[in-house]
Amino acid sequence: MKIIIISNRLPVKIEKKNGAFRIKRSEGGLATGLGSLETKAEQYWIGWPGIHVEDEKEKAAITKRLHKMNFHPVFLSPEQIENYYEGYSNNVLWPLCHYFFSYIEYKAEYWKMYQQVNALFCSESLPFIEDDDIVWIQDYQLMLLPKMIRDERAGVSIGYFHHIPFPSYELFRVLPEREEVLQGLLGADLIGFHTHDYMRHFMSAIYRVLNLNSDLDEINLQNRVVHIDAFPMGINYEKYHQAPTLPAVEKKTNSLKRKLGNQTNILSVDRLDYSKGILHRVNGFAQFLEEHPEYHEKVSLAMIVVPSRDTVDRYAELKTSIDQAIGSINGRYSKPGWTPVHYFYRSFAFEELIALYHIAQIALVTPLRDGMNLVAKEYLATKREEAGVLILSEMAGAAIELSDAIIINPNDTEQIATAIVQALTMPEEEKRKRLDKMQTRISTQTVKKWANDFVTELEEIKILNKEIV
Ligand code: UDP
Ligand code: G6P
Repeated sequence: MKIIIISNRLPVKIEKKNGAFRIKRSEGGLATGLGSLETKAEQYWIGWPGIHVEDEKEKAAITKRLHKMNFHPVFLSPEQIENYYEGYSNNVLWPLCHYFFSYIEYKAEYWKMYQQVNALFCSESLPFIEDDDIVWIQDYQLMLLPKMIRDERAGVSIGYFHHIPFPSYELFRVLPEREEVLQGLLGADLIGFHTHDYMRHFMSAIYRVLNLNSDLDEINLQNRVVHIDAFPMGINYEKYHQAPTLPAVEKKTNSLKRKLGNQTNILSVDRLDYSKGILHRVNGFAQFLEEHPEYHEKVSLAMIVVPSRDTVDRYAELKTSIDQAIGSINGRYSKPGWTPVHYFYRSFAFEELIALYHIAQIALVTPLRDGMNLVAKEYLATKREEAGVLILSEMAGAAIELSDAIIINPNDTEQIATAIVQALTMPEEEKRKRLDKMQTRISTQTVKKWANDFVTELEEIKILNKEIV
């Protein structure tokens, strides 16, 4: 038996520099989380390598290199990227699932291409799939794929995991293709969500759109039962907890400490995305500076924004607004030797990221909506002798497990400002107590456990289905 993971994006991406192709790791929770998964079963991963390639020889060379790593690339044309990836996936489904209804831009070509590319993923995957394999489809870009594979391979075990929120029915009903999308998902034997709330919303959509009977966590089809469950995704805890002791990380940590002196460092890390509440956070920090001049020159905020989907208009606009907002704070409050916001618009290597997590006394994670948020968990995992404080939005899936963080409503900038003061003045003993509880949780609910729980349930369902037949 092998596990075949299918996702829009592979955990590595190909970049071309000076005429040569380079393999880099991909950003985003799906790729970093699942990418650090270690299983006993043989794994194959099928997905887009993140680059457009015309030349057939180049395609063959990339494919050969990726096959050595058990990755199979699905190449997309510019038109497919525009209408399937930027279009239906990120201009329709992403804003819909993150409650940004007014951001939805709808075009008939988007849906046409979404179907076409899901079918392309199906035809690229079929040659790899044998009867006793487990096919595990990931995320909203491929919601039609479970049914497409089921139609071709009736007996194979198919799982689907939704990495982003599933919205309430009142929002989901807006989608013209709501019925086809749900039918697509029902091709799976097991459908997983990060939280019970997303799962409930999904069940309610199934009932109201398809009028199908469901029994708590099962949907009864004519010849099959589809199981639904919540699996909160975790991280490779040991990898992040041990990383600060790596010589390369220690070197970076020491150099950062020297540069920052005695300043307290607040850190935020996100992909460029309106769902991450980056502007609200900047405004909350500005409010904090306005109300608390006693912290000027003592506290600074390091904001890492990783470039993402910047060919989609809303993302490009957001980038401009963030640049302006940060420019305005720094223009207003900076003093010789002190810049309130250090802003980085780029991605960081693993060692650099760990050093930044490790030296930050406070992490500010304030998404307006987030399926899970792995950054919050990674930050906590890197803490060792010195505890850190996590300020976390109640709108992140992670807030359910990390209730010992300072939980805030990200829409309220005053709450962000107050939480920063609470974190700055929190007694060491309380910091440690809260951290210990959260580390206990994330060191048990790891990404390995998440994947094992999912795959084990899928295997049990397979046995159950055989008994029914
Ligand atoms: N990340 C990265 N490079 C960076 C900054 C962040 O690969 O320069 C990773 C980070 O370690 C985390 C992921 O991107 O694993 C972000 O995942 P999260 O669940 O927080 O949000 P998503 O991007 O999936 O919405
Ligand atoms: C989120 C989504 C993933 C996606 C990632 C990065 O984590 O759930 O499916 O891969 O963001 O976004 P991108 O569009 O660059 O793949």
